[in-house]
Amino acid sequence: MVEVVVNKPEPIIGRLVVVGLGLIGGSFAKGLRESGLCREVVGVDLDPQSRKLAVELGVVDRCEEDLAAACVGADVIQLAVPILAMEKLLARLAGLDLGQAVLTDVGSAKGNVVRAARQALAAHLPRFVPGHPIAGSEQSGVEASNASLFRRHKVILTPLAETDPTALALVDQLWRALEADVEHMQVERHDEVLAATSHLPHLLAFGLVDSLAKRNENLDIFRYAAGGFRDFTRIAGSDPVMWHDIFLANREAVLRTLDTFRSDLDALRDAVDAGDGHQLLGVFTRARVAREHFSKILARRAYVDAMNSNDLIFLANPGGRVSGRIRVPGDKSISHRSIMLGSLAEGTTEVEGFLEGEDALATLQAFRDMGVVIEGPHHGRVTIHGVGLNGLKPPPGPIYLGNSGTSMRLLSGLLAAQSFDTVLTGDASLSKRPMNRVANPLREMGAVIETAAEGRPPMTIRGGHTLKALTYTLPMASAQVKSCLLLAGLYAQGKTTVTEPAPTRDHTERMLRGFGYSVNVEGPTASLESGGKLSATHIEVPADISSAAFFLVAASIAEGSELLLEHVGINPTRTGVIDILNLMGGNITLENQREVGGEPVADLRVRGAKLKGIEIPEHLVPLAIDEFPVLFVAAACAEGRTVLRGAEELRVKESDRIQVMADGLLALGVKCEPTPDGIIIDGGVIGGGEVHGHGDHRISMAFSVASLRATAPIRIHDCANVATSFPNFLALCAEVGIRVAEEGKS
Ligand code: S3P
Repeated sequence: MVEVVVNKPEPIIGRLVVVGLGLIGGSFAKGLRESGLCREVVGVDLDPQSRKLAVELGVVDRCEEDLAAACVGADVIQLAVPILAMEKLLARLAGLDLGQAVLTDVGSAKGNVVRAARQALAAHLPRFVPGHPIAGSEQSGVEASNASLFRRHKVILTPLAETDPTALALVDQLWRALEADVEHMQVERHDEVLAATSHLPHLLAFGLVDSLAKRNENLDIFRYAAGGFRDFTRIAGSDPVMWHDIFLANREAVLRTLDTFRSDLDALRDAVDAGDGHQLLGVFTRARVAREHFSKILARRAYVDAMNSNDLIFLANPGGRVSGRIRVPGDKSISHRSIMLGSLAEGTTEVEGFLEGEDALATLQAFRDMGVVIEGPHHGRVTIHGVGLNGLKPPPGPIYLGNSGTSMRLLSGLLAAQSFDTVLTGDASLSKRPMNRVANPLREMGAVIETAAEGRPPMTIRGGHTLKALTYTLPMASAQVKSCLLLAGLYAQGKTTVTEPAPTRDHTERMLRGFGYSVNVEGPTASLESGGKLSATHIEVPADISSAAFFLVAASIAEGSELLLEHVGINPTRTGVIDILNLMGGNITLENQREVGGEPVADLRVRGAKLKGIEIPEHLVPLAIDEFPVLFVAAACAEGRTVLRGAEELRVKESDRIQVMADGLLALGVKCEPTPDGIIIDGGVIGGGEVHGHGDHRISMAFSVASLRATAPIRIHDCANVATSFPNFLALCAEVGIRVAEEGKS
């Protein structure tokens, strides 16, 4: 009788043969049988009991004892036998008439399987697609077969140069039908990666437990073992025969990773022997961060699993009023610079109020990668063990800077003067941002820098080139370019002079002085000479006025609001947002003004006000450059027209902030018109609707604030990057009365 199954796809192959009905082979067979993609699934196994069970449990349609009989007319043959049995199996298959059948396997090491396949298969080699599903379970045998074992697990295919693309595509499609995350990789890379992340840890766990057990034959010692030992050695409970096979199969790659580990272990031993706490702290702090990063990747995977998407949506409910007293996180620009200068200083720098957002953490990690020992951050406290201007070491690989343009631009200046090469990379947004603005003047100084097309990241910065000082007039008002060149100037022969077309944030100049380095500033021109040194200092990072800006606008636009923002940095190169809001009729006053570590600070009191549209004075643009997304929201709530000009720089921020804000405002029913260098906004009613953050933290936060005056909920897509500058944004919103939360979590 032919069973009619509704809602199943048409079969794409006739017969699937699975050789070896263990957990992996059985699960593959069962999953594909249930998918309906194969007309028939045939199992082969030496063990009669497994063959019987496989049919009874619905793992396969039928079983064969004889390989040759099973393979007649097969379209795909999956080899799921133990890895050391693979060579023999391939030799036997080579003697059969396989027609056009595609062969694939599940072996956990690929080099030896591929070697055996090359020897055995000859003309059939292009139809062989080596594979490895990274999945398993404590259980084994065909009775543990689970059709969803591979769901959201990685399956690595390692095609060869001669692999037929249609064979590869077919195997790829079968694994995807089981909802696996399929990736393609070179054989050698696969074996290296698995040797390091799976085989070495198993070897260590087996080895440690045995070593301790041997020394204490009555095993009494294990009575004292606590959680650490249990966690570390859990995998020593794995199948000894299978692991014996794997180490024999992946011998070369395991030996390479083991030898590297042995020398690292020796270095640790030497550090313990010599009482070298600095070395130990360096290893432990780096390892802890790496481990946290790894846990985050795993957590993100779980999150993605749950949501089946990586779009973090903020849902902002309309209305509300803002009140209370809050301190927003530390200044991003100052946090970056504290790590950079602290690392290059002589002595230990303590930082307080450090911004624990992803951007500043990217800078911190970059310096750890270059050998600087950095403790923390812990509640905003960071201790940096400076290595001096010439103490950085080559990083182990490319430096990933995430979303952070400031990290990349400032780092490029000081890396151009090092003796080693570096590669700077970033996320999708950073990879679109212009880097020639720093690369070109650095090249004039003698730096050797390569970029991708049109001066985009990644940046490859060649070491070993002596820089010569430069006198440079910036073509645009950019603190990042200015800072980059001043940092390069620390190493360049002669006096580096930078002139800016309009005042931009001067944190680099101030902080250099704080570290005892002489910087001369005359009007728009800053200059310094090389040959000095930075001396460690104490840095207190004020709250970030760019983060405070969201609440300045929030309290201004929501009638009846009154909010106090504590300890906000009010460096005059950053206060454009206060000036613009007050020009619009806002009510912001500065209280308790003081200076902390070379930066002016105040508490800002803001009250609800009736805003009116204005022509924004152009000289204020660089002084409020990061605050425009939320200022556009203020303009949308104001009476009359607001016009911004001279702000083309907004088009090359984390997103094109003119276009993206215009799109969002229009979607909410606000009348506005983007222009090449600004925007015209007519204040009025803000409706509800769907807008996009475009991975730009400030866009997501600006639309969150807009909800205070919206007539219906605003759904904001793509908000994960709020964590780059303002990790506790939602918590502070809830505290003061802005009704925005992650969708599904309110
Ligand atoms: C920054 C300078 C500004 C600003 C950025 C931080 C800095 O960039 O937008 O968020 O820390 O120097 P530009 O120099 O590109 O204007």
